[in-house]
This record gives sequence, C-alpha cells and structure tokens, in this order.
Amino acid sequence: DYIRWQSSIVHSYYDDQDQLGYQDPLYKGRTALFHDQISGGNASLGLARVNLQDQGKYLCYVSTSKNNQETFVTLTVNGELKS
Ligand SMILES: *[C@@H]1O[C@H](CO)[C@@H](O)[C@H](O)[C@H]1NC(C)=O
Repeated sequence: DYIRWQSSIVHSYYDDQDQLGYQDPLYKGRTALFHDQISGGNASLGLARVNLQDQGKYLCYVSTSKNNQETFVTLTVNGELKS
C-alpha cells in the first residue's frame, strides 16, 4: 500500500512504514497515521499541535494493489488569540 498526504509533503508512507525524509519541516513530529487501521482501509492523518498556518487544502493520495485514489480534505482552524 502507498499513502501520501500532501500540501507540501505532510506525511508519506510506503513499504509498510512512514517515510519522512522529505517531510515539510513545518509538520515534523506532528503527524501520524493509524498504522493498525491502514489494512482496514483507514488512511486518516493525525495532526497534533494544530495552528492557524495549518489551515487549508490537503491532498490525500492512496495507491494500493487494487486501485489509486485521491481526495482533497479542507482543514479549517478556528482559534482565539491569547496574550
Ligand atoms: C481511523 O482511525 C482513527 C483513529 O482510531 C479514527 O479516529 C477514525 O475515525 C478512523 N476513521 C475511519 C474512517 O474509520
């Protein structure tokens, strides 16, 4: 299976493992797939410590032996500025 979440490279996964060599440094240490659920068809991306800059459109591209599929997900971030 091959999964890629991208705006720049947010997170990529292939050969049964995370492949983060080309990950955008903005996302370093903040992304995770749910590895135990990938085989069941769950390619969800976990994103920690979300900030306003994360807002926008993300492309999720999934390729398996059976087919290829891509979907855009729009992330909206609502927040309050605290001083
Ligand atoms: C995928 O797994 C995550 C973590 O367990 C869960 O929050 C999410 O709802 C799951 N998505 C689907 C489509 O099952």
